[in-house]
Amino acid sequence: DKGNHRHFMAKEIHEQPEVVGRTLAHYVDMARGQVVLQETLPFDFARLSRLSITACGTAYYAGLVAKYWFETLARLPVEIDVASETRYREPPLEKDGLTLVISQSGETADTLASLRYAKSQGQHTLAVVNVPTSTIARESSVVMPTFAGPEIGVASTKAFSCQLTVLLCLALAAGRARGTLDAARERAVVDALITAPGLMAEAVKMEHAVETLAREIAKARDVLYLGRGTSYPMALEGALKLKEISYIHAEGYAAGELKHGPIALIDESVPVIVIAPHDAIFEKTVSNMQEVAARGGRIILVGDAKGAANAGLETMATLTMPDVDPVVAPIVYAVPIQLIAYHTAVFMGKDVDQPRNLAKSVTVE
Ligand code: M6R
Repeated sequence: DKGNHRHFMAKEIHEQPEVVGRTLAHYVDMARGQVVLQETLPFDFARLSRLSITACGTAYYAGLVAKYWFETLARLPVEIDVASETRYREPPLEKDGLTLVISQSGETADTLASLRYAKSQGQHTLAVVNVPTSTIARESSVVMPTFAGPEIGVASTKAFSCQLTVLLCLALAAGRARGTLDAARERAVVDALITAPGLMAEAVKMEHAVETLAREIAKARDVLYLGRGTSYPMALEGALKLKEISYIHAEGYAAGELKHGPIALIDESVPVIVIAPHDAIFEKTVSNMQEVAARGGRIILVGDAKGAANAGLETMATLTMPDVDPVVAPIVYAVPIQLIAYHTAVFMGKDVDQPRNLAKSVTVE
């Protein structure tokens, strides 16, 4: 049932404040400002020398965001790869180490094969899944559910933001266990996390601005997405979402890579979507935006009011996001990224819930 929405994807985008709130209720003790894991972990984060993450598509991008979180909050080195590579690369994995798999469906063939490989190496396995009865959930030593509810649209939306929410909670728990995160810092991040559903609801309200912008994006043959830090995987996710449902060619790049090749593509016909909350590396991203502007590129800034004012650049459009703690930003910035893809595809008359050539769950290689 789509409710009042034209598509499942729209419904699922709009549901995010609610489902992220539900996920938080499971993993966070709001009153104490602490993450509380109800799942018993058969390993000790303090004793891990490395975390290996593997997943496909959007779930892989959630893992890529989590790499930044585990490394900064828990000082835990993370190795991450797409599951189709992990499974055949057969990486050396330490006995009693930890492999984290992420999957909405819990049935993705490559992710399942990578999970089985990790087990064969004597690793503990932790699955962040949306379907608790799935094969991946059944075969993992620990399951951390995402509570997004059934996701029908082929383009993953609410599962992604819920994956991010669970992964940030897990990184906080790891930081506490490893002594890299003091109680005050944990409390500050948890307090920020608790504001995420409200901020996502605000972000959904930008829908009209996005609809206008989508008419412009729909004219493009190619679209670039740029970001630094956790906004880099968000750029990859934005590009995937757009190409999946609108069939416009889109690429995501780390903003600092611009000069190493993709800048050659920039001209007036290429919209460049820059994902840039006002964080510690914002100024670096601004210098990349200047490079784009100097070549006639049309910038669409997805940032906050402070960033928009500081950037001092003429943009084709600015989507002004509510202020959010930079650690939590990916969860909230998922919303405009999804709305851009959705409205562009709808304007172009594409079947957003059932894009061509794609299946919801990739159970064969
Ligand atoms: O069910 P999974 O999370 O394992 O699926 C992984 C990918 O197939 C999935 O995220 C795919 O990339 C989506 N269509 C993206 O919107």
